[in-house]
Amino acid sequence: MAPFSFLKFISDQWSTLPSPEELKKDLTGKTVIIVGANVGLGLEAARHFASMNPGRLILACRTPKTAEAAVEVSSVDITKTTGCKTVEFWPLDLQSFSSVSAFVTRFEKEGGGRLDILVENAAIATGDYKKTGDGHEATIQTNHLSTALLALLLLPTLNKTPNSRLTIVASEVHYFVARLTEADSPKILEKLSDKDHCTTSVMSVRYNVSKLLNVFFTRGLAERLPLGTSVTVDVVNPGLCHSELTRNASGFQAYSLAFMKFLLGRSTEVGSRTLVHAALAGDQLTMQGKYLNKCQVEEESDYVISPEGQKVQDRLWEETIAILEAADPRVKDVVHSLLRSD
Ligand SMILES: NC(=O)c1ccc[n+]([C@@H]2O[C@H](COP(=O)([O-])OP(=O)(O)OC[C@H]3O[C@@H](n4cnc5c(N)ncnc54)[C@H](OP(=O)(O)O)[C@@H]3O)[C@@H](O)[C@H]2O)c1
Repeated sequence: MAPFSFLKFISDQWSTLPSPEELKKDLTGKTVIIVGANVGLGLEAARHFASMNPGRLILACRTPKTAEAAVEVSSVDITKTTGCKTVEFWPLDLQSFSSVSAFVTRFEKEGGGRLDILVENAAIATGDYKKTGDGHEATIQTNHLSTALLALLLLPTLNKTPNSRLTIVASEVHYFVARLTEADSPKILEKLSDKDHCTTSVMSVRYNVSKLLNVFFTRGLAERLPLGTSVTVDVVNPGLCHSELTRNASGFQAYSLAFMKFLLGRSTEVGSRTLVHAALAGDQLTMQGKYLNKCQVEEESDYVISPEGQKVQDRLWEETIAILEAADPRVKDVVHSLLRSD
């Protein structure tokens, strides 16, 4: 597979994606959760799922005002535009492990015992250093740690549901991390959250690093799912799209991103089709643990697939599980009962 290049990026951005009609499936009786669905790609993906008659469509969002608007208030709301009456908003803040735990506890009680599709879409892109109440750098916790926690805590329900799908939204920017320099430290995740380490220059690539962690986590999870599992996990790149992701950019960066999006950006709706494709298309044989670009399986970065990348992936897995086991004791049971240890 051709490695990432600017010419490939341009050609990818201009390629035609499958139409919503081509992606459509009947979701009658099925339960779908989309994380971060009040704006951007998550909202447009939710609208596509809503048009497929889902049994339940849960928008897991941190901002009640825009989430409620996405469900029922605004003039472009999902209920009005699709006629879907099974859309719900459930609060979830990925900057807090206890919020993730509370979401899962509620889902265990009220979720109806099945989860067909979980799309982990929420993320932040910021160069500012901030520590969460749980003690982790905010981008690492939002984009990686809490995303992993939610995936693991919902794994038992995904596992009980035939042909279930877990889709994690990453990015082509994972190719930009030629080598994770924090892997030179004994504890990678601790280093990534260390305030003294997180200089302006380190934080300028933090989003890219977080998307690399999404790719590593997906591969690590897929490698540990036993044969015969009902869950298929994949990781998707939506490409450069119009959305609110760069809301915190300023100055030259804001102008250059706006210019790039003007020239090459997919509309939010078109970009969201990549999420829908990752959650609905193909089968376990072709999609398990795979990275998807323009609705096709593609090779991850050279670093990810290198022997060094595999070692870093395994270390990150161990460190992530240790942090998440401390955050929620249910993680230990999930890892021991549902994942392979060999
Ligand atoms: N747009 C692109 O060009 C592009 C390219 C490659 C990959 N991606 C990926 O696509 C995904 C969606 O991004 P987008 O472009 O649609 O960005 P967006 O418009 O900014 O949407 C991001 C979503 O994540 C939510 N979110 C952020 N922090 C959260 C938290 N702590 N708890 C719960 N939800 C939280 C946001 O909610 P609030 O509104 O409350 O903040 C929002 O719903 C991300 O994973 C991103 O990395 C985007």
